[in-house]
Amino acid sequence: MSNCSESLLIREPRSGVDFGLYYDLRWRILREPWTAQRETARDEHEDTAHHLMAFSGDQLVGVGRLHFLTADAAQVRYMAVEDGFKGQGVGSAILGELEERAWERGARRIVLNAREGAIHFYERHGYRSTGHSSELFGIAHWEMEKLR
Ligand SMILES: CC(C)(COP(=O)(O)OP(=O)(O)OC[C@H]1O[C@@H](n2cnc3c(N)ncnc32)[C@H](O)[C@@H]1OP(=O)(O)O)[C@@H](O)C(=O)NCCC(=O)NCCS
Repeated sequence: MSNCSESLLIREPRSGVDFGLYYDLRWRILREPWTAQRETARDEHEDTAHHLMAFSGDQLVGVGRLHFLTADAAQVRYMAVEDGFKGQGVGSAILGELEERAWERGARRIVLNAREGAIHFYERHGYRSTGHSSELFGIAHWEMEKLR
């Protein structure tokens, strides 16, 4: 399998254009197949969260977000990799950078709600299920956590 992670550039969105691309990718991958409502791909933490975009050349190929729940607990949300670029290390690279930001800023614990298909991906990155599940757009999500 090819791996584009070595040529990836990961950075924060810097402009309105960046944020337009960022939210569009998030919505297309995580929501469009289930609902046409674009606002469902945003929550109340957008203004204070840490946002990351991954580029392969000029193309945006992945996004992810981190926000703090308390001073020492952070949540990863809205991880999405472009179709055609999945399975090439993009998600791993974004997750690694989000985790770095979380630990640097004092997190002792990172939580997330994983879709069934992403559980193995997060397990490989050291996350463990806490046993709690919920449903969003008819998709089962499992709460996972990683401790520092
Ligand atoms: C989950 C996701 C963010 C992982 O990013 P990625 O760049 O594909 O992951 P990496 O290449 O770094 O790591 C390999 C993972 O790719 C995923 N993957 C590989 N090929 C894939 C494909 N064709 N389609 C979907 N996922 C694939 C697998 O989850 C794999 O993890 P595993 O082998 O440990 O199960 C990404 O696949 C994605 O956007 N999936 C759809 C949306 C989603 O489920 N987001 C997470 C919500 S909790």
